[in-house]
Order: sequence, then structure tokens, then C-alpha cells
Amino acid sequence: MAEISSLAEARGKSRPHADPVPRARWLLLASAKGGSGKTTTALNLAVLAANKGLKVALVDMDSQETATKWHMRRPEEAPRIRLFTVPLEKADRAIQQVDLAEKTDGLDVVVIDTPPSIDEHPIQARLLVERSDFVLVPTTQGLADVESVREWMGFLRREGANAAFVLTRTQRTYGSFQEARSLLLKSGQLCPMDIRQLEDVQSTHKFGVGICEIRRAKGVEDFEGVWDAVCHSMGM
Ligand SMILES: Nc1ncnc2c1ncn2[C@@H]1O[C@H](COP(=O)(O)OP(=O)(O)OP(=O)(O)O)[C@@H](O)[C@H]1O
Ligand SMILES: [Mg+2]
Repeated sequence: MAEISSLAEARGKSRPHADPVPRARWLLLASAKGGSGKTTTALNLAVLAANKGLKVALVDMDSQETATKWHMRRPEEAPRIRLFTVPLEKADRAIQQVDLAEKTDGLDVVVIDTPPSIDEHPIQARLLVERSDFVLVPTTQGLADVESVREWMGFLRREGANAAFVLTRTQRTYGSFQEARSLLLKSGQLCPMDIRQLEDVQSTHKFGVGICEIRRAKGVEDFEGVWDAVCHSMGM
């Protein structure tokens, strides 16, 4: 089974020992399909990283600004996440701004949330893919979503991206879950952990937190598992 654990070495994009100066790892959340869990995954992974003591930037490139609104609700006492709100059309400017912040304040992880229309912006998509250490492609287990992201993965592979699908909002007992896994594995790498459809996940949006910051919430292990897999793939 092609899973993501060996990707970092295979693609040589993450280079934990090669950089003379430690450099922030860039994680791009991108899927041509709307409502696939990009923002929810992006903000939960950013929170996990921040709670592990890492300096985290969250880049919101979606004009709906869902991640920005979430950030405004974030409690003051919660670990800090630096926010950049820059539309996808200005991806070059976003990269410059984050680079400058890394130089002046230091950053460990940059998490980028993108709009569903990213496939209609190949120039910006290429810029971001080229810059990112890893591209995570969230999808639900619905057939239409799976078909759409398989096409998108074709683009990412042609661009030489270090990328993997992650199944989100899953219902593991449904037949469509295994069908989706099988189909996705035909087109690329698949994160070994999926993220279940859980009511508690909705609360993260409401309160500006990540699931790991809600006491006794369900789903922490789902996001933790995805984060661990992503870290491995980014050489962290
Ligand atoms: N694991 C989950 N369990 C329950 N609800 C979820 C889960 N993940 C996402 N959702 C909900 O599904 C909806 C879509 O999720 P989200 O906004 O993260 O997707 P998106 O890909 O960013 O969407 P868009 O393409 O519109 O930006 C939201 O209402 C969100 O709260
Ligand atoms: Mg979104």
C-alpha cells in the first residue's frame, strides 16, 4: 500500500539535515473540491503544532476568510498562531510576507489554507506547490469528491509535488469509505489516518480553537495521527 511515510526521502524536498539554517516547513492544504475539510484540517493542524511549542503561521488565501474569522474568535490565552490573510491571486505577496516574518521573528511551520478554486489559478498553484514541503489534499469519501481530487492529484504529480490525500468527514462503517481509499490509492499517496465526521469538530469553528483544546472532545487522535504523518513527510 502506498502510504505517505516514505515520501520525504523519496522526493528529497524536505531536508532536515541539508539546510545550514533551520527553515520553516510549509504545509499546503489544497483540493479543487469545496467543503472537503481544507480549512478545518488546516486550523486543527496549526493548533496542534502551536500546542507543541512550535512557532506557527496560518495563511488564509480564501476570500471567504473562514480561517481569519476563526482566528478572530481565538481565545487570548491560547497558544499564538500568526495569521496572514492574502487572496490566492496574490500568492507571491503572501510568500514574501511569510518569508519576512520568518526572518524577523522566526517560524517553524507555515500552514496554508486555500480556496476550492485553486485549480483555476495554475500560476499561483505552481508557486505555492513549488514552495511547499508537503501538499495535503483533503477529500470526503463521496465518489464525486474522490473523482475530483484524483484529477487534482494528477496536476500535483506533474508539478513534482510531495503530496498525499487525506480522507475527512469520514464514516468508516460505510462501504464508500473503503471504496474511496481504494480509488485514491490508485492515484497517489494516502494519509494512513483519516478524520471522522464528528459533531465536536464543528465546535472548533465556533470557539476559535482546535479539537485538542476542547476537553474530552472526540477526534483528537484523528488530527494527531494526520499531524504525525505530515511531520514525518516534512522531515520534522
Ligand atoms: N471532521 C468533521 N466533522 C464534522 N464536520 C466537519 C468536519 N470537517 C469539516 N466539517 C464541517 O464541514 C464543513 C466544510 O468544512 P471546511 O470549511 O473545513 O471545508 P473547506 O474545504 O475548507 O470548504 P471550502 O471549500 O468552502 O473552503 C464545515 O461546516 C465544517 O465545520
Ligand atoms: Mg475553506
